[in-house]
Amino acid sequence: MHEEVKHPCVQHKLALIRNEDTGHKKFRELATEITMFLCYEALKNVRLKKIEVQTPVAKAQCHVIDEDIVVVPILRAGVGMLDGILGLIPTARVGFVGMYRDEKTKEPVSYYHRLPPQTDGGVCIVIDPMLATGGSTVATLDLLKDKGATTIIVVCIVTCPEGLKKVEQAHPDVVVYTAAIDAHLNERKYIVPGLGDAGDRLFGTS
Ligand code: PRP
Ligand code: URA
Repeated sequence: MHEEVKHPCVQHKLALIRNEDTGHKKFRELATEITMFLCYEALKNVRLKKIEVQTPVAKAQCHVIDEDIVVVPILRAGVGMLDGILGLIPTARVGFVGMYRDEKTKEPVSYYHRLPPQTDGGVCIVIDPMLATGGSTVATLDLLKDKGATTIIVVCIVTCPEGLKKVEQAHPDVVVYTAAIDAHLNERKYIVPGLGDAGDRLFGTS
């Protein structure tokens, strides 16, 4: 399952982040802002509990989030979305998964993970700006399920039909939220038109 968030504010910022003239400072700011909008949408079904709050006037029946939320950035580029989601849910726990694409095979190579124990009881939100072939996301979802995670959401900035299909075939229970489903992958397995190499653009390494 997936949802493309077509809100004008998201689409406007997407146009800016795609632009090759956007430098890494602005790119980082836009990644944070787009992530906030996407996560706002992705969290719309999160469980709430009722609480009573005393206002200066009277008691109010209110709701607060009643889930352990574990955010899982895929290193390295996923870190560029972390501030955005923590701006929405400052109490979330954070687990890291290190994954890179082998330059030749384009297959994901796992090199690190450190997850909080709550991974097996809460809602896990995987963040990575690019879901291209889907290999890195599927490997991360495999790992999280292996650690006991049952409710997992993926939030990415740009994806394409090939990657979505791979994730949906391997993990039909996981919902992917994205700002854009682009046309296709090129021969180097980059998303077209995409936004280039997200890690390099975030961290100024190109
Ligand atoms: C990028 C991106 C995803 C992955 C997507 O990471 O951030 O993790 O590629 O590609 P896939 O869907 O085909 O697996 P990259 O390997 O460039 O590593 P980096 O974040 O360290 O730059
Ligand atoms: N990784 C990126 O950073 N960009 C792509 O288009 C594909 C993989």
